[in-house]
Formats: sequence, structure tokens, C-alpha cells
Amino acid sequence: MALDTMEDLSLQEPMTRAETDEVEGVTVIKTICSVWDQVWNFKARPDDLLIATYAKAGTTWTQEIVDMIQNNGDTEKCRRASTYKRHPFLEWYLPKSSFQSYSGLELAEAMPSPRTLKTHLPVQLLPPSFWEQNCKIIYVARNAKDNLVSYYHFHRMNKALPEPGSWEEFLEKFMAGKVLWGSWYDHVKGWWKAKDKHRILYLFYEDMKENPKREIQKILKFLEKDMEEETLNQIIHHTTFDIMKDNPMANYTKDFVGIMDHSISPFMRKGVVGDWKNYFTVAQNEKFNEDYTKKMANTSLVFRMEL
Ligand code: A3P
Repeated sequence: MALDTMEDLSLQEPMTRAETDEVEGVTVIKTICSVWDQVWNFKARPDDLLIATYAKAGTTWTQEIVDMIQNNGDTEKCRRASTYKRHPFLEWYLPKSSFQSYSGLELAEAMPSPRTLKTHLPVQLLPPSFWEQNCKIIYVARNAKDNLVSYYHFHRMNKALPEPGSWEEFLEKFMAGKVLWGSWYDHVKGWWKAKDKHRILYLFYEDMKENPKREIQKILKFLEKDMEEETLNQIIHHTTFDIMKDNPMANYTKDFVGIMDHSISPFMRKGVVGDWKNYFTVAQNEKFNEDYTKKMANTSLVFRMEL
């Protein structure tokens, strides 16, 4: 599936909400199970860069920053294709039956090196070849409450995901880890632990919001790249929320037409830290905090819930 021949993803016929299944206890989209062996046996190359996140932690933002770095701040080059095509989404598989297919695997296999790939897999489900090839990995984590709010709205607007139910119901599912890609708590902790043994740059959405320049400089160092101040400033500007919101190659308005409904909730929704305060009731917050303290007791990982 070459970049220039791949058709834009769009709805061919009405589709129903996605069904889920499990891989080793982790909730996944059912379609992925049919190609799971291929995902697990994916052949990473030594110069692959992987962007790994829990869904809605700032993946697309990080992808745009990385692409701008790799293209030395050339915005036109970064508009060569939409995010989905520039950076294959490893475990995302939409078969042809309901609408035009997407196979992150096929896209990745056809892509010349050096490749930048995307995944939401928890660390224990990452194909072993990434470890064997000692690939560089950028992991981005976002505080649980904002991540959850963003995930809830994304489910509302995206028919390729299961029905979220009410806010209250989705909150419960999130706390129980019974949402796509599994438990947020296990995800962020698992990758946090892995960073001690592997080439992983672990970033936080909140830090990126607070000081994008500082965080982009961390990425530059990790990628062993030097950059003129002017180019760096151009990257910061091009990857601000307001600019990305209007960039059809980054905001998903060109992709998944009829699947993502931006009038329900835009993909580029708010892009802030602390929006959770608009959703959690006092009782929900207390319950969430109590549960959070227990689940996060065995880690040195600390998140900021506001700036
Ligand atoms: P909200 O729903 O809270 O607005 P992902 O790319 O992992 O799916 O994450 C999407 C979330 O990142 C959305 O959060 C989106 O608005 C936010 N986002 C995308 N680009 C951003 C940017 N340039 N700056 C800040 N947040 C951004």
C-alpha cells in the first residue's frame, strides 16, 4: 500500500459500532484479533522510531513534532499526507467489509526506512522485534483524568470505536481497565518501568503544554539532531493546538469521513490540561482519587492534573 496510491479512508456503507475482544486480557478492537499473529511477529527495523501512547495522550501532536524535526521544519513536506499515512498505526486493522480498509501493518511493511510508527499497545504486547532491534521509542503519557475525558469524547465521535455509554458508565469502565487498549494505569506504569532497560524517552503531555520548547529539545537530543533556533521556533509554532486544529493533514477531518463526526466532538477538541474539572462530580472525583491512589501506589510515576 504505497502512500500516493492509498485512498482516503471514508465510509462506503453505514457501519455499526466496533466489537471488542481481548488479547491476553487487554481489550482490543475485534478486527485486530484476526491479524494478531502478524502484529506480534512484526519485523521492526533497527532505525525505526516508535511513538507509543495510551490513546488520547497526545499522539498526533507528538507525531507532528517528530515529523517536523525529521523534515527540518519544512511544513510543506509535513503536509505530504495525513497523519495516518505518514506514520503507520501498527495494530490498527480495518477490513474491507465495512469501509475502505486500513492496515497499519501493510503500510509499515511497504514504507522505506527510516520509518516512524505509532502504537497504543501496552508494553507487554509490543512485538518483541522492537526490543530485539533496540529501536528508539518516544512514549507520551497524560494525566488519567484528562486522558479519560478526551477518550470519552473520542468514543462519542468515532464510530470505529465501541459505544461509550454515559459519562458515568465510561468512567467506571476506564477505572476497571475495560476500555480499548486496556488499563491506563497498567499502560503508563508498564512503559515507565520499561524505560529503565530500553531506549525510551518518556514524556508528559502536561510538560509539553507547559514548555513545548523544552520538551521538543528533549526529543531533538534523543534523536541526536541539531537545529537552528529559527527552525525550532517554526516547529513550536506549527505544532501549537490552534495551528494543528486547522491543519487537515493533522486534524483527521480528511480521514474517516462518515466515521468520525467532528460535529459531535472535534478530534482537535480543547487541547488543555485540567478540562476534567468540567466533567467529574465531587463524588466521582473522590471515588476516582481513592481508586487511583491504590492503583498507582507501586510506582514512582507522578502526574500533574493541572498547570
Ligand atoms: P482533547 O480531547 O483533550 O482536546 P491523540 O492524538 O493521542 O488521539 O490525542 C488527542 C488529544 O490531544 C486531544 O485532546 C487533542 O485535542 C490533543 N491535541 C492534539 N494536538 C494538540 C496540540 N498541538 N496541543 C495540545 N493538545 C493537542
